[in-house]
Amino acid sequence: MERGPVAALNRDRWDLDPATTFLNHGSFGATPRQVLEYQTQLRSLMEANPVRFVAVEYRPLLAAAIVRAAGFVGADPDGFAFVANATTGVNTALRSADLDPGDEILVTDHEYEACILAAEFVARRRGASVAIVPIPSTVVDPGQVVEAILSSVTPSTRLAILDHVTSATALVLPIAEIAAALADRGVATIVDGAHAPGMIDLDVAAIGAAVYAGNWHKWVCAPKGAGFLWVTPAWRDRVRPLVISHGAGREEGEQFRAMFDWTGTADPTPQLSVSAAIDAVGGMMEGGWPAVRERNRAVALEMRRRLIDALGLVPTGPESMVGSMAAFVAPAPWLSGSPAEAATGLILRLLEQGITVGASARRGSPDVFLRVSAHLHTEADDVGPLIEALRGWG
Ligand SMILES: Cc1ncc(COP(=O)(O)O)c(C=O)c1O
Repeated sequence: MERGPVAALNRDRWDLDPATTFLNHGSFGATPRQVLEYQTQLRSLMEANPVRFVAVEYRPLLAAAIVRAAGFVGADPDGFAFVANATTGVNTALRSADLDPGDEILVTDHEYEACILAAEFVARRRGASVAIVPIPSTVVDPGQVVEAILSSVTPSTRLAILDHVTSATALVLPIAEIAAALADRGVATIVDGAHAPGMIDLDVAAIGAAVYAGNWHKWVCAPKGAGFLWVTPAWRDRVRPLVISHGAGREEGEQFRAMFDWTGTADPTPQLSVSAAIDAVGGMMEGGWPAVRERNRAVALEMRRRLIDALGLVPTGPESMVGSMAAFVAPAPWLSGSPAEAATGLILRLLEQGITVGASARRGSPDVFLRVSAHLHTEADDVGPLIEALRGWG
């Protein structure tokens, strides 16, 4: 297939299988070779003398990585910590939250299923409960989501866990508006921003959330194992890592930094490679990250239009809620088994035809969602083989 200028230039910068039409950057990201090479250099430095690395080289590298990464998402470094991934970040915040028997945690039924399960786990242990706000599979406008969430707040609601960009349905939520309105009602928000860094121009401190968790490996294209947590000043003495290690012995006030920066021996190179990923991907387009985000959104919107025109697919929301991914309700003839089984079936059937897409179900809904993603290794024409494959499915 002929490839357009940007993708033709950039596909070569990733190690993606050339035989694959790769339309699911969203699930696990994909890291450019240049960033993997940088990570390999760091690993070589570490393995040349692991003791020297931890005692001498690691601290300054980590401090610099924190400043760079925090700056990229509008966080102050003192409230910023690397964690392995967004799931760890959300679990960390949930386990640290003050919850009493009878309290309620609010989530929507578009929230990432693993984080609903984490909320239910914590709620059970505290005698609290989880209220799941129903939102239709196809959203008309952002106001509908705001209204559904706010009208579900009760006097018992203490905490909300909300996706910035929903997973199955790929919708960008007006998170600052929601967090501010919840704060007015005395409800703290934990934002699950797994997809936001690199997709959205982020200013996490301005959102008004108690905690913001995100990923570097998705849209910033860092190696896997790099997520983060930003915590508002009032919560910094409360939020503690899932693993308690040496930092617990520090003075109060120093503990946040000390506890998160060492949680036992692990490979820190994914986190130490975040700056390299910010530079590498931002450097692939004139105009840097704003141009990258704009271009990816334009490609996602174009793929969406082509899928709607060719197959009559129903999108999950309006164009205004699209970031770098587009999702659709999968038609019934494509599906068999439970929604979760049908989603896996859809992914596997297309994988057999050399096409990689996202597909998943969501809590309490019979629907299955097909999702396509755009990054700099993708172009709108890549959706062509998907359209051809799906045409035959009825
Ligand atoms: C909204 C949301 N939260 C959390 C996650 C989990 O990310 P990770 O596996 O990196 O923790 C995802 C992954 O797609 C997601 O979409």
